[in-house]
Amino acid sequence: MDNNNNIDWAHLPFGYVKTDYNVRCTYRDGKWGEIEVSDSETIDLHMAATCLHYGQEIFEGQKAFRGVDGKVRLFRIKENARRLRASATGLAMAPVPEELFVKMARMVVKLNERFIPPYGTGSSLYIRPIEIGITPRVGVRPADEYLFVMFVTPVGPYFKDGFKPTKVAIYREYDRAAPCGTGRWKVGGNYAGGLVATERAKALGYSAVLFLDPKHKQYLDECGPANFFAIKDGVYITPKSDSILPSITNDSLQQLARDMGLKVECRPIPLEELEDVQEAAECGTAAVAAPISEVDDMDTGKRYVIAADGRPGPVTTELYHRLQAIQRGEAPDIHNWTTVVDECD
Ligand SMILES: Cc1ncc(COP(=O)(O)O)c(C=O)c1O
Repeated sequence: MDNNNNIDWAHLPFGYVKTDYNVRCTYRDGKWGEIEVSDSETIDLHMAATCLHYGQEIFEGQKAFRGVDGKVRLFRIKENARRLRASATGLAMAPVPEELFVKMARMVVKLNERFIPPYGTGSSLYIRPIEIGITPRVGVRPADEYLFVMFVTPVGPYFKDGFKPTKVAIYREYDRAAPCGTGRWKVGGNYAGGLVATERAKALGYSAVLFLDPKHKQYLDECGPANFFAIKDGVYITPKSDSILPSITNDSLQQLARDMGLKVECRPIPLEELEDVQEAAECGTAAVAAPISEVDDMDTGKRYVIAADGRPGPVTTELYHRLQAIQRGEAPDIHNWTTVVDECD
């Protein structure tokens, strides 16, 4: 078998690389069927499927890591299973059982073992589960049948040029989700809703948009694909909002912050409070923690400079290293967050 000696593991982008297999399961007649292993990259879909017309599409994102001991670890995989179930419930879709989700994640990782990047490259195997409504419908109603697919793709380190802070932008004319809408679920449409703002910000050199809460436009919500946290006088502060995705990384960083003796506050954060924070970052599976140097309010012209020296803050740096050390098996997994793929068969 080709051992992928030709893949430049350390320089992979966050993109799609074809792997050997994906796994699929279909919900029909009120129950989930058998798991199928497929080597096809495409899905045969009816043109009237509800996912194409009425947005019944939800997904997840997590990573498998090759550890210092050679073992392959999944990180808090059950949390992703639970979040997908919450998303399904939010969109009147059939929830995937937690055990099925975890079984398929282990299977798809093992089936594509030769694509798991080696330890020390900073790369990992990204797992992308998607669930779609596949019943043909023209009237607006939920599907009766659902397809759940998990595929994997090796992805490179998020910080190719080093762990450096970047700038983010605020625009009041765009929301990614409505106040009582789908923001708390991982729904494709939320990302579509944020694309214009994000492309606009990126064209000006920003790494992301920091969305304000859609109801009051007063409090910080989250970035396009990541949660937000800040460090203020030794306290880890992070937004409490019904329109943001509950990030598993953020939840883990809160625990690690407590382990480090910090207080954690999950509460509405007024935009102006950025004046008083010493550190800020985006957090999520892709980057773990991406430090923010400056938040620019594009409507008022106000600039909140957080890392004037252009260097990441000490707490963000420590949190970033602590979480990665657990994911890579370098530090004891004291919170029982990891699942070793070969040990759970
Ligand atoms: C909108 C949004 N918020 C937050 C996150 C971070 O979530 P997690 O830490 O579970 O990856 C993501 C990425 O998954 C996201 O897409």
